[in-house]
Amino acid sequence: MMNVLIIFGASGDLTSRKIIPALFQLFSEKKLPKPFAVIGISRTRFTSAEWRKQLKASIQKTMKDPDFSRDWDQFESIIHYFSGDVKNPEMFFELNCFIKEIQKENGEKNAEIVYYLAVAPILYTQIIQNFEKTGLAAKDFPDKYGIILEKPFGMDRQSAEDLNRQLHSVFQENQIFRIDHYLGKETVNNIFALRFANTIFEPLWNRDYIEHIQITVNESLPVGRRGPFYESTGILRDMFQNHLLQLLSITAMEPPAQFDAKFVRDEKVKVLRSIRKSKYEIEKNMVYGQYVKYREEQGVHPDSLVPTFIALRLFIDNWRWKGVPFYLRSGKSMSCQTSQILIQYKKPPHWIFENEIQRKREKSSSDPEGNSLLIQIQPSEGIRLNFLSKVPGTIMLFQNSELTFSFGNYGKNKLPEAYQRLLLDVFSGDPSLFARNDEVEAAWDIIDPFQNYIDSAIRRNISIPLYESGSWGPSASDLWMQKQGRTWLNLCPIIDRPEKNGSY
Ligand code: BG6
Repeated sequence: MMNVLIIFGASGDLTSRKIIPALFQLFSEKKLPKPFAVIGISRTRFTSAEWRKQLKASIQKTMKDPDFSRDWDQFESIIHYFSGDVKNPEMFFELNCFIKEIQKENGEKNAEIVYYLAVAPILYTQIIQNFEKTGLAAKDFPDKYGIILEKPFGMDRQSAEDLNRQLHSVFQENQIFRIDHYLGKETVNNIFALRFANTIFEPLWNRDYIEHIQITVNESLPVGRRGPFYESTGILRDMFQNHLLQLLSITAMEPPAQFDAKFVRDEKVKVLRSIRKSKYEIEKNMVYGQYVKYREEQGVHPDSLVPTFIALRLFIDNWRWKGVPFYLRSGKSMSCQTSQILIQYKKPPHWIFENEIQRKREKSSSDPEGNSLLIQIQPSEGIRLNFLSKVPGTIMLFQNSELTFSFGNYGKNKLPEAYQRLLLDVFSGDPSLFARNDEVEAAWDIIDPFQNYIDSAIRRNISIPLYESGSWGPSASDLWMQKQGRTWLNLCPIIDRPEKNGSY
């Protein structure tokens, strides 16, 4: 049986920056199933040779491997180009003939076909309808066809439901792979290991010990050339509905009975459904801002009120988490790139050292910080546990100490790119690390009220707080935390970070 991956959107950025490099890497490591073929489709009138040449030039720039050219020459033979317009149903019949030719060349009668929609979401409906019209993907053949979609999966709950309904008219849910590339990150998967392959963390992973949790996904890069996309999509749909809520679900979920797609996704959905809906308390639970030069970006309206930074406070109303705030924040043009999860533990219930300190007439060191566990997702990868230890000497004074784990110290292997892991999972038919329909819809239920609030503020022309590029967001964000008696962990990556960026 031959495996064929058909990429709609062959000339796009995603194909050349993520999909093809991941496939190339898997090919070089001999991990792709055999025989394997990739067919790229877009409207540009390329030949396969021209497409290969263009891909090689763009990918070579980022590959440091001295064997690149040798491996690429072998890889090239499995990639093909087919020029066509996805809006035209005829094209799908022609594509079918093209697939048959490739099968014939490989001496294969049957093929497992996976379609990858690396196109603007506005084209999804048309493509799915054409599958339906031409019968080229059928839910009656669950092993034969699959479809990969990139986010955003809809623009709100309603449109996500519509999209899911359309998909289900052609594919079964287990044939649909909705990519959230955060789920393919090694460090995100390590959260499963940390929580469920150890016994020492889980008993303390609840409202009895945890004071609050912060999930930060900050980027130092500005919006840049993606102005038009950003203006219409915004940060809630671009980052929160998917990446941040996925991080929250994995951090907060109950242990699944097995590490299996159904069990894992059932537990994640339960978390999302338990999040308190913020309909009437948006102002208490959200702060937002825009970086000063955003309005000068290409394709951005000169008076734009679209936020480029948002922080949310969410509560999970279940036994484990009742009363523990989860803070989620993300921004563009921030001080540094950092994705991290901070588990902030409560302070000791009773501080026994106060009288000793007074006896020795030392300055008080009461009111200690609680312990914290920092999970760094990227760009450096690791975990840091903070605790107090005694300052050596004759009295009981304390200092912050830490235990750190760095992925960089474990083996010489480079961490695999998220897309490599996810593509292999698609080919082996494992949807564990992909968003299920009910998960996507439950996530929109949380985001919609915040998005509606922002949309209404924009319509009413309400001014937006600004922040300097290279900062940690608008001052309102720090103030908001202070009012709640907490502080953001405004810390650029500390574990395994090259020295050249100075101190943190
Ligand atoms: C994408 C968003 O999904 O994730 C981008 O569309 C964002 O706006 C990117 O920059 C961040 O991904 P990563 O892996 O660089 O953190």
